Amino acid sequence: MPRCPTMLRILCLVSCALLIPSRADPGALMKLGMEFMNKAVKDAMDESQILEKMAAMANQQGSGVKPIKGMTGMKVKDVRPPIITLDFLPEVGIFQCVSTQITITGKSFIGGTMEITVVVNITANNRLSQDEATGLPTFHSEGCQIILVSVKTNLPSNMLPKVVNKFLDSTLQKVLPGLMCPAIDTVLEFVNQKWTHLMDPRPVGEAGSIKYVLSGTPTTTAKYIEVDFNPVVQREDGDTIDLPEDGAAITILEDYPDGSSQLVLSATFVAAEFTLLQKSFDVDIKGKTIGKLPPHTTKTVARFVPRVGKAYRKPVPLMTQIRINKPPKVIMKPDKSELHLHGTIEMFAVSPKSGPSSMFVLETHFILDIQYSLSEDKVNMVTSMDKLLDLSVASSSIGSFKVKKLKKFLTSLLQEAYVPIINGALEVGFPLPAFLDMKYGQSELAIKENALVVDLRKP
Ligand SMILES: *[C@@H]1O[C@H](CO)[C@@H](O)[C@H](O)[C@H]1NC(C)=O
Repeated sequence: MPRCPTMLRILCLVSCALLIPSRADPGALMKLGMEFMNKAVKDAMDESQILEKMAAMANQQGSGVKPIKGMTGMKVKDVRPPIITLDFLPEVGIFQCVSTQITITGKSFIGGTMEITVVVNITANNRLSQDEATGLPTFHSEGCQIILVSVKTNLPSNMLPKVVNKFLDSTLQKVLPGLMCPAIDTVLEFVNQKWTHLMDPRPVGEAGSIKYVLSGTPTTTAKYIEVDFNPVVQREDGDTIDLPEDGAAITILEDYPDGSSQLVLSATFVAAEFTLLQKSFDVDIKGKTIGKLPPHTTKTVARFVPRVGKAYRKPVPLMTQIRINKPPKVIMKPDKSELHLHGTIEMFAVSPKSGPSSMFVLETHFILDIQYSLSEDKVNMVTSMDKLLDLSVASSSIGSFKVKKLKKFLTSLLQEAYVPIINGALEVGFPLPAFLDMKYGQSELAIKENALVVDLRKP
């Protein structure tokens, strides 16, 4: 009956498709691969000095190490640096195996020093969840087990089985879990502590802050842990900037080497920071001399707009007012990122006697090219003039004129006088999430479709 399985499959396809939760695209996400997690856990082991602590604990009175018949003065002589193996457990977190060698010494009843060397594997599932109180990612271990891999002693072989078996029964199986499983927990606590500042607001100069808020429990796949964020971009006065819902989707990239990790920032999220800084994009360009440009006067403009020459027979200094009246947009394509600004350019003749008087207001849409680079805790951005896309006359006090001839002049003016001011405002940088001691300085950054991708590498 081939029909039934087919029906079933169709049913499953339908219902399984329905089961996939529809969720909004995260504004930012990170994928932590195995190389990164290995380093994070190894750092935690080193910092926690867990081995030293274990050895000290085992030697404490009342540590639970029961005397072995025929053996006195038992001591843990040596704990070898462990081999730690991690594996991703899809939908759970990380499987952790700590393989270590422990040497216990004592006096045997026949006189000499007795040494027992055991190799044990401690295994546990480190479940990853979102802490209810703090909202932070957190690991906790489950099902810790001790696997005895090998036992060696310097006892005469004829008495080996009996004594060793006793030792194993009475001591290792009972005592080691109590001794070693807390060690796994201690290491995890150190890992967990490294997320503490993940959701702290990170200042963007004086303008406001960015907060990397988790959008839910991190997910684990066979290859990585994914942490999704709903970043909160907040102004100094407390207002938040909504990330547009219609923002282009982040394409989840799978074209990276196994084990690697990345942080993905959506173009809409990056744009929200520009919106935060939007006020500083309103600029008044004053002064006669601007770089190598012809003098910033009515005489220069008259070359492109003859009506200006008619209105001002003698050269009068100019003031060019640029006002951005829509939230900036960021467009990202592979290797290219554009900042789209919409607003007005108003030119004033500033007569020394009567002060500024408006000559005309132009509606404009122009594009700056954005270059990104990384420092330890932020993305740095520098812009350059790309092109003036639209230019039209909104109002004019000197009569109607054709604006086309002004394009080249205004493009140079924006590059020389406007872009440096924008770049100054951007020096605050774009703060990146603080977690697991990540320093971004050595990482690489790439512009992809609708997203900025930071290749995470622990130094
Ligand atoms: C113990 O751990 C080591 C290192 O990860 C591994 O090679 C070995 O297979 C494990 N042995 C057992 C019995 O689990």
